[in-house]
Amino acid sequence: MQVVASGLEGVCVADSRISLVDGQAGRLILRGVHLHDLGDKSFEELARFLWEVPLENLGEARLRVAPALRELLPLAHGLAPIEWLRLALDRLPDTKNPADWVAALGVALALRRHPAAEPDPQADHVSDVARMAGLKWPDGLRRYWICVAEHGMNASTFTARVVASTRAGQRAALSAALGALQGPLHGGAPGPVLDMLDELQQAPDPEDWFRHKLARGERLMGFGHRIYRVRDPRAEVLRVACQKLAEQSSELAERLRFAERMEKLATAVLAAHKPGRVLQTNVEYYTALLLEAIGFEREEFTAVFACGRVLGWLAHIFEQEKEGRLIRPEVRYVGPLPDER
Ligand code: COA
Repeated sequence: MQVVASGLEGVCVADSRISLVDGQAGRLILRGVHLHDLGDKSFEELARFLWEVPLENLGEARLRVAPALRELLPLAHGLAPIEWLRLALDRLPDTKNPADWVAALGVALALRRHPAAEPDPQADHVSDVARMAGLKWPDGLRRYWICVAEHGMNASTFTARVVASTRAGQRAALSAALGALQGPLHGGAPGPVLDMLDELQQAPDPEDWFRHKLARGERLMGFGHRIYRVRDPRAEVLRVACQKLAEQSSELAERLRFAERMEKLATAVLAAHKPGRVLQTNVEYYTALLLEAIGFEREEFTAVFACGRVLGWLAHIFEQEKEGRLIRPEVRYVGPLPDER
């Protein structure tokens, strides 16, 4: 039996037409188009671009799912926002319309902040969710969701595909993907990025702070990637989005300048710490700054990520459903065998 690396690095598990994550050149290509050329699309346009099935009216879907989600809201108490999204998805009436799942995540995110908010079916998805959630700068949220909507066979997408391959259905596949996204090595990093920047702002010597952290065997959040051996191209898209917003906010402009300085310092310290391994800025670093500026709390960041990534998860679920083959690898047993004497 062929045994592969425990993190499945370098293992290709499917043929896909959805996206190319080019880790050597630092390119992200979605259905033949560079990510940076998709920046003007609306969320609905990106869904139509990524999916092989039509997207039905997302505004009507928001209106349809809102009452059921409002009834579930008392259950959100004590849950992390990402756990609330999972619960909301699990308890919604079943549907064959994928627009309902997309709408449900956005509306659940907004209702948790403003339980009485009502969807406007005429509005576009991002503006409506931003309005319901009481956020500033909807275009920042749109840029963010377009940027993170799809990214190859990452852990949550792989999870979604495995579950879809069992024919458990879209709800189960999305719910499992939400679970995978939650971890700090995947979608849970941007909150800790802000904690890190806060600590650095107080540190008398930031370089020393980085060195000590690494000496304790800890990781710097927002750096390193399984696939990219150069800077994650999404980091630049999001840095530029922060820069645009910073034109309207001197507070953000100052925070951005500080983050840029810390990025340079961190990558230099990481290069000295691991000379054999390129550890560059990943998507989560500027995500943290952008989501904070838009008005999200740090505990919400992973849930906000999920509301954008749902487009990619569904694109892969559709592709997997078409493929139709159960994903079922093997494990090499290295434990004891019973005594056969
Ligand atoms: N800070 C410090 N060291 C890091 C690091 C980081 N951010 N990322 C990787 N390394 C180190 C590892 O500790 C490992 O060292 P070792 O060989 O002495 O054990 C080495 O670099 C190789 O890393 P590896 O664990 O093989 O990388 P991976 O492909 O499994 O990890 C991540 C990818 C993203 C999980 C990892 O870079 C990480 O934990 N980053 C921080 C969390 C984060 O930003 N997550 C968001 C990802 S988009």
